[in-house]
Amino acid sequence: MTPAPRRAARAPSPRRRTGASAAPAPIGSIPLEGSPKPHPALGLGLWGLGRWTEEDEARTKATIGRAYEAGFRWFDTAEVYGGGRSERLLGEVLQRAAGAASDAFVATKVSWEHLRPSQVRASLINSLERLGRRSVDLYLVHGPDPHVSLAETLGTLETLWKEGKVGALGVSNFSVEELESAAKGLSEARIAVNQVRWNLFDRRDADPVREYCRSHGILIEAYTPLARGLLHGRYLDGKSAPADVRRFIEHQFPPDRFPDVLERARALRALARESGVSLPSIALHWLARQGAAPVVGMSRPEQVDSNLAAWAVRPSDAVLDRADAIARGDRA
Ligand SMILES: NC(=O)c1ccc[n+]([C@@H]2O[C@H](COP(=O)([O-])OP(=O)(O)OC[C@H]3O[C@@H](n4cnc5c(N)ncnc54)[C@H](OP(=O)(O)O)[C@@H]3O)[C@@H](O)[C@H]2O)c1
Repeated sequence: MTPAPRRAARAPSPRRRTGASAAPAPIGSIPLEGSPKPHPALGLGLWGLGRWTEEDEARTKATIGRAYEAGFRWFDTAEVYGGGRSERLLGEVLQRAAGAASDAFVATKVSWEHLRPSQVRASLINSLERLGRRSVDLYLVHGPDPHVSLAETLGTLETLWKEGKVGALGVSNFSVEELESAAKGLSEARIAVNQVRWNLFDRRDADPVREYCRSHGILIEAYTPLARGLLHGRYLDGKSAPADVRRFIEHQFPPDRFPDVLERARALRALARESGVSLPSIALHWLARQGAAPVVGMSRPEQVDSNLAAWAVRPSDAVLDRADAIARGDRA
């Protein structure tokens, strides 16, 4: 069954800002059909909580707190991030925020290892307990399990949605075929979101999933939008990328392409400088222009301010077109 076309996502329209301020930042939002809350256009991703050590905890809490204070409302976590630690820390910080952060847009994910109906319900109950909330705004299937019927999994999600425990339903890392199989399990609810890896370098332009999502009104949440810091200008001036970042980049590209990727990143930074914008402004708005909502990982409060400042400046279409060509490898 093909889901009925739904309202297309609207691109955010952030205003230009000159720097960080105590007032909430104009992040913008995107309507999400079936959801009582609109979907913020830019989010804070908390996968890193599984990577940062216990000693990093205070800094991590300060990062989440700063993000909320500065205007971030969308927080993306998952039961697998840090074995539940990410959800627990997020819950702790939000409960201490003004009004217990009732306006936050909290999204979490059920692991690909827990997709059988009884497991899905137990996973959500455990996530809610760790988050200290009665419901989440968005619940995603973190990835498909080829041994479990996606229709059955989504059928259980729909029940949880009807019970009000979940504001909207989504998936992550799903292909067109998987989206179609999953949709067969739904009668009233719709798949509202597909979260996929997408950035200027990791593009898969020919992947039909983008067009499918666009034509079915499924919002794409773009993860790894800064290519793990590379598209913020990290590692471009001699300081070599740490092993985990290098492994990550090389996982996406053939190993011998890493120098080429660095060269393209330097050309993008040069374009940003001559255009009077920043490299992350280009990286984030290249995604937003295509209707995607970027979810950015941040490990320290100053990164929150810097990314908000980047988001506040929208490069012109001509600059984004040029960036698109550079990232593709067009040297003309
Ligand atoms: N659904 C999925 O399967 C899936 C998979 C991966 C990620 N995600 C989600 O997407 C989120 C983001 O993805 P990601 O963390 O892989 O990649 P990313 O957002 O491209 O990169 C995040 C890293 O970039 C660096 N960075 C960010 N802002 C910076 C700034 N202002 N200045 C300097 N460096 C900066 C930080 O590195 P340092 O921490 O080293 O400073 C940060 O950890 C995750 O947290 C998670 O919520 C989902």
